[in-house]
Amino acid sequence: MFKLIDGKAHSQGIRQEISKGVEEYKKNFGKEIGLAVVLIGDNSASKVYVRNKIKACEEVGIKSYSYYLPAETSQNQAEELVNELVNDERINGILVQLPLPEHLNSEKILSLIPMSKDVDGFCAENMGSLCMNKECLVACTPNGVMKMLEREGIDPKGKKAVVVGRSNIVGKPMAMLLLNADATVTVCHSKTPDLKKQCLEADILVAAIGRAKFITADMVKEGAVVIDVGMDRDENGKLCGDVDFENVKEKCSYITPVPGGVGPMTITMLMYNTLEAAKRSV
Ligand code: GUN
Repeated sequence: MFKLIDGKAHSQGIRQEISKGVEEYKKNFGKEIGLAVVLIGDNSASKVYVRNKIKACEEVGIKSYSYYLPAETSQNQAEELVNELVNDERINGILVQLPLPEHLNSEKILSLIPMSKDVDGFCAENMGSLCMNKECLVACTPNGVMKMLEREGIDPKGKKAVVVGRSNIVGKPMAMLLLNADATVTVCHSKTPDLKKQCLEADILVAAIGRAKFITADMVKEGAVVIDVGMDRDENGKLCGDVDFENVKEKCSYITPVPGGVGPMTITMLMYNTLEAAKRSV
């Protein structure tokens, strides 16, 4: 029998804790906590994410400042806005929604955000600190996965964890977090020979590939914890994950669904990071 990890329920629980933290901050310091959300262009998925991020701010009592710029925005204009936000005392966190329009240099724009306001945990200083297991702002999706494991009572210590995917946003920070939690970690990617063999060894398998139903039942060890970070569309256009959920679930001790698993945790951890950034700035 497998247990479904309910990301929505965990997310609600954590948001309540964050709301209390925000309230306490406001009472103690007599000011608001501010998150700037920057959306450039009209990527429809990004619009939905941004809307949900702003909604989450309202829910936990964080003041959001939204900036919608047209797709034709120049590199200079984008950099000017970010620089303004860096120097704005009301703003504790800056989020530039990715992907940016192709003509913009994302790396350059993101590099303007100091680690103290980098609530995405993307910058080199935050990533480096994570590698060294020092306090920092951690990328929201992998940090959300760790929170879910913790709340389910799943301790990675001494376990064999396999992360499939090596992106800077998910795979790499995920591997570091699991390593910092004393798991033995293998990171697999598109050039890994015999991926199935690697996956079959996993006590904790994290799928962050970006390909619908890529992880099949024959790749999963009996009793494994399976975490699906994917947000894909199946052959009928229906939302699904990187894991072939229906066939894999029976082999698992725990599994996250898509939707309703990791997804809801990502935005919650953004709220968590914004509160953390505010607390560290005083
Ligand atoms: N685009 C997709 N996921 C993310 C995220 O976590 N942060 C930002 N800034 N953009 C994204």
